[in-house]
Amino acid sequence: MTKPKILIQLDGDNQASVFDAVVGVDAGIDHLFQYHSVQVEQIRDLVHGAMFTRGPQDLHNTALFIGGSNVAHGERLLRAAADCFFGPMRVSVMLDANGANTTAAAAVLAAARHVELAQSTALVLAGTGPVGQRAVRLLARSGCQVRVASRSVERAAETCRQVQANCADAVLTPVATADADQTRGALEGVNIVIAAGAAGVELLSDDARKACASLQVAVDLNAVPPLGLAGIGVTDKAVDHEGVICYGAIGVGGTKMKIHKAAIKKLFTANELVLDAEEIFEIGRELETAP
Ligand SMILES: NC(=O)c1ccc[n+]([C@@H]2O[C@H](COP(=O)([O-])OP(=O)(O)OC[C@H]3O[C@@H](n4cnc5c(N)ncnc54)[C@H](OP(=O)(O)O)[C@@H]3O)[C@@H](O)[C@H]2O)c1
Repeated sequence: MTKPKILIQLDGDNQASVFDAVVGVDAGIDHLFQYHSVQVEQIRDLVHGAMFTRGPQDLHNTALFIGGSNVAHGERLLRAAADCFFGPMRVSVMLDANGANTTAAAAVLAAARHVELAQSTALVLAGTGPVGQRAVRLLARSGCQVRVASRSVERAAETCRQVQANCADAVLTPVATADADQTRGALEGVNIVIAAGAAGVELLSDDARKACASLQVAVDLNAVPPLGLAGIGVTDKAVDHEGVICYGAIGVGGTKMKIHKAAIKKLFTANELVLDAEEIFEIGRELETAP
């Protein structure tokens, strides 16, 4: 008899994410086990409980979802979980702390619908945050040259170092965007802009966006007014504004939800999957090309 699908939600926050729980249920799992405030030292016993209860032939029906608002903590939990596995004794695991992987994947896929990433230069505004860093990483892995922007060029340079450690071929330039002049300068010659700033913070004025003749695609991930990219709509989905294809946060959100659900479903197809940024991006690519 086929075993029921059990998703084990390991969340670093005081409350396990309701959002992640709902998506799990909507993706068709049979049971959701939720653990909150999960620390690295607790992972072994939690993961052993998942690994040692079913035989290897049934382990694809058990999977882990690592969430929580702190992406660095989620990455540590993922490493600790992976360290528990051996031989066939493993279960599939997905990391989407802060929604960073699914959101960044959706943003980069939106851009990729309109331009060839390998021939593009992108500016990631607020590229230092968890979502921005993932977007930088995915763009760079796709061969795009990426300017990583921050109010602090040191923070931008630190993000470049971290992404480079993960992707040696990445072509990255740290840029400061502490004021309007610097932001205009950073935008010069780019054909993609992704705004990954904190909620309710405008990063680029309408005038500056319109003045950038090279710009082809603009993607904003901030849904809280004022939006990150002034002058575009939060629900915009491939809307043409003065010759630039624009996406607002809700316009990108539908793709993000589809990727999240598809990734959860994929977890239950094998017991050895590790779904981090690149794997989740690939799932998004498959969805884009599916008939
Ligand atoms: N659609 C979705 O499903 C979804 C899912 C997750 C997140 N999001 C959205 O994606 C965006 C990025 O998320 P996140 O968690 O990575 O964001 P975050 O950590 O809150 O902020 C990202 C970056 O914004 C910059 N920033 C913060 N306050 C600022 C200010 N007052 N002025 C200018 N820049 C400021 C900082 O960069 P510097 O300090 O380096 O300048 C920070 O690293 C957010 O708007 C979030 O709401 C959307």
